[in-house]
Amino acid sequence: MGSTEEKVVAVILVGGPTKGTRFRPLSFNTPEPLFPLAGQPMVHHPISACKRIPNLVQIFLIGFYEEREFALYVSSISNELKVPVRYLKEDKPHGSAGGLYYFRDEIMEESPSHIFLLNCDVCCNFPLPNMLDAHKRYGGIGTLLVIKVSAESANQFGELVADPTTKELLHYTEKPETFVSDLINCGVYVFTPKIFSAIQNVNLLREDRADINHVAGFQSQQLATRSPPTDFVRLDQDILSPLAGKKQLYTYETMDFWEQIKTPGMSIKCSALYLAQFRVTSPHLLASGDGKKNATVVGDVYIHPSAKVHPTAKIGPDVSVSANVRIAAGVRLMNSIILDDVEIKENAVVMNAIVGWKSSIGKWSRVQADGDYNRKLGITILGEAVTVEDEVVVINSIVLPNKMLNLSVQEEIIL
Ligand code: GTP
Repeated sequence: MGSTEEKVVAVILVGGPTKGTRFRPLSFNTPEPLFPLAGQPMVHHPISACKRIPNLVQIFLIGFYEEREFALYVSSISNELKVPVRYLKEDKPHGSAGGLYYFRDEIMEESPSHIFLLNCDVCCNFPLPNMLDAHKRYGGIGTLLVIKVSAESANQFGELVADPTTKELLHYTEKPETFVSDLINCGVYVFTPKIFSAIQNVNLLREDRADINHVAGFQSQQLATRSPPTDFVRLDQDILSPLAGKKQLYTYETMDFWEQIKTPGMSIKCSALYLAQFRVTSPHLLASGDGKKNATVVGDVYIHPSAKVHPTAKIGPDVSVSANVRIAAGVRLMNSIILDDVEIKENAVVMNAIVGWKSSIGKWSRVQADGDYNRKLGITILGEAVTVEDEVVVINSIVLPNKMLNLSVQEEIIL
């Protein structure tokens, strides 16, 4: 480790239960950040990317889920990575910047010179060391990871304008109604500790507006400094927009993949992206097989070591199979996520689907969808402990937990 100035910490915003509604029915029994993509919890991917940051001393997960929901994962990942990972629970949502500010004392404990901030619900290759180098060159208080997307999709994100030469952030607007730019915010940042003053200033401004103007200069400062922002402070609208064009924020553009994981459909797409990335970063996690001793594996596939897969099954591309899954003879799986303790019986087919924990799919059944990730019923989802009986076909449907299907369904939500 170099001098104290070089220490770096990373903060991953994991949100909380109320943020996970679009992820139903899968968020009923697992917090969205722990939902497996490519066989690893969603939050595992940014965490392992943080491990590549030079002089990283600590990773914090900040959210408003119960501590016990993260306890097991946090202790096992800390041991595995040999970097302390701590879960910090907010008593209520403080917003993306408010959450960071709320835990400023813990974050600053080791006097880091730089703080990475990552949204948990994005999927990319997290080029964090490159961002840090660029950030040091720019000399601002923060650098945002940005990417070019199609002009039609840009308005779902924070659109921004950057100086093509200096890369300074000139203008930022969250989900604008009229087109501003096809350059968008990826939700991955690196800041100097000055970010805390910027967040505090939002509070000062708010307090000013709340009419404490009658208190004179120095006294007003003192008052505001003593009372931390208990309000909700959003990073995008409250910090990035007002600081744009003030030579404080800069951008680092990625040419690699980036997606936001807002829906179960996107989780299949992002699982596939991470599986493809494993070819470079963790080839040992990818399964192989040619149908002799092991099942035939096509393309990128993850199979948990405890899963039992019949050698006559054919799996892939883009499939992840979790712990204790049993896959019988002649089964075909494509572009799907199979969660823990699922049983898939002889000659069943699963395509463009998520099969929930402890579900069971009968012989010669089909659980499939057209694979249009942007459509609510574009993938089929079976919630926890769903039973699909033999020879039943489930197409483009969502089935809530604990249901038994003995008739075929198409384009339906089974409540
Ligand atoms: P929408 O598309 O508007 O839902 O949001 P977004 O994901 O683009 O942005 P948002 O600022 O809502 O969330 C960014 C990240 O911060 C996500 O990973 C959220 O889970 C997380 N987040 C949002 N609000 C809070 C909060 O109050 N506390 C914590 N700890 N995390 C939050």
